[in-house]
Amino acid sequence: MGTEPLLSLSNIKVTFGGVRALKGVSFEVMPGEVHCLAGENGCGKSTLIKVITGVYKPEDGAELRFDGKVIPAMTPTLAQSLGIQVIWQDLALFGEMSVAENIGFQLAVNGKFGLVDKKAIDAAALKALARLGVSLDIHRPLRELPIAQRQIVAIARALVGEARLVFMDEPTASLTQSEADYLIEIVRTLSASGVAVVFVSHRLAEVLEISDRITVLRDGALVGVYPVDGMTQSRVTELMTGRNFDSAVIAADHDAAPVVLSVRNLARTGEFTDISFDLRRGETLGITGLLGAGRTELALTLFGMRQPHGGEILIEGKRMEFGSNRDAIRAGVAYLSEDRLSLGLNQPQSIADNLVMASLDHILSNGLISPTKKANVVSHWISALGVKIGTPDDPIRTLSGGNQQRVAIAKWLAIGPKILILDAPTVGVDVGARAGIFDIVRKLAAEGLSIIIISDEPPEVYFNADRVIHMADGQFHASYDPRTISLTALEAAIYA
Ligand SMILES: Nc1ncnc2c1ncn2[C@@H]1O[C@H](COP(=O)(O)OP(=O)(O)OP(=O)(O)O)[C@@H](O)[C@H]1O
Ligand SMILES: [Mg+2]
Repeated sequence: MGTEPLLSLSNIKVTFGGVRALKGVSFEVMPGEVHCLAGENGCGKSTLIKVITGVYKPEDGAELRFDGKVIPAMTPTLAQSLGIQVIWQDLALFGEMSVAENIGFQLAVNGKFGLVDKKAIDAAALKALARLGVSLDIHRPLRELPIAQRQIVAIARALVGEARLVFMDEPTASLTQSEADYLIEIVRTLSASGVAVVFVSHRLAEVLEISDRITVLRDGALVGVYPVDGMTQSRVTELMTGRNFDSAVIAADHDAAPVVLSVRNLARTGEFTDISFDLRRGETLGITGLLGAGRTELALTLFGMRQPHGGEILIEGKRMEFGSNRDAIRAGVAYLSEDRLSLGLNQPQSIADNLVMASLDHILSNGLISPTKKANVVSHWISALGVKIGTPDDPIRTLSGGNQQRVAIAKWLAIGPKILILDAPTVGVDVGARAGIFDIVRKLAAEGLSIIIISDEPPEVYFNADRVIHMADGQFHASYDPRTISLTALEAAIYA
């Protein structure tokens, strides 16, 4: 680490309409350091990154220095030429373009190679991927790639320029544990080669493992800057929220309750085989396992988006044949997808429209949408899930990532389902909001909803489910009762 900061900011203020997103924040990054920017959903992390990269202009009185020099007016182009790169929370990639075009995009735009030179773009893409130690088919359209690989593409794109400072806004949010571990290695390599990395993540274990220092924001204000040495997860949580969270096992027996969902020998060729389980009224089942275990494929089949090749699904004893997810929704199944940015929400639409999207039947009056009913449903769920919004008519994209996730959950709760499947429900959600989401899950279970939580974070299922099923290679590996196994033993079994 050098002794002079690479980047320093002071007195950064940003206001959106009535929302004071940043209230006079200062921030500093040393050359080559890994710095974590932490705080709850909506505290201003992404906004701060946008100020540094010239997307938003701070109010008067702000100062921004890079390499010791005052930068009076940052712009995206200037940021880029200084070697400041960002991997945005929503990745900002182009689905219709190839992997190579996405990675080499900036070269094409800058016209460094005159006209768009396909060979040069391909070469740059291959070089950036090689630097990450990854091989991908660079001619495939991006939309065909799973989200984890798209993330790699976004990182490779950031490395194409001469990066000196890379911001990663929740780079691991949609990655599995092993992919996240891999990314951590990449970050270490970057930092060792002198590139400073600022890292936004809600996974505190990872934050503590990777960072040199941590800056904590709360509600648009700076709480403090801390060395990571000697920092604990619960201390960071306390700094972020001003509160304390304790975890306890909630598992209970539901043997007396009627079976709502029965899955018998369910199979899909190449994805999963011989899956059988019962889910009772008011019961919460956790499913965990590594990437490729077949968890999401199973969930999509239960939700009618894929057809099983064998076995059966019964709801309240009746055999189901789902032609599509409409059939599943009608039968009372709700599925919150792991990929909210592409499947769950319609970004340009309003918060209110997104929230009622799956439950239009419930807000009709004489065949037309009743504005009163709609407003009631919207305000009920916004307050029940504590979603931080301006007005319900704002486009959903103006919400912070975690608040979008809450709207995605509300959308499904609004249909009044019998079975709720949550696939990676807390991806990108801060620890305070996670606790809030699981409080809601518990309340819903107590009201009789049957819930399946899919997560690759073992603690998440361990502390929030009655039973935990470990899936591996498309099969049920084992079933655990959190009351009779320790979290450490469960984790050891999964990562073995
Ligand atoms: N373009 C915008 N228009 C209106 N309000 C905005 C806009 N961008 C951000 N906000 C508001 O500013 C606040 C800070 O948002 P920001 O996206 O910086 O949060 P964050 O810390 O990145 O949260 P998360 O962890 O959920 O991603 C939030 O209240 C958000 O709703
Ligand atoms: Mg953000």
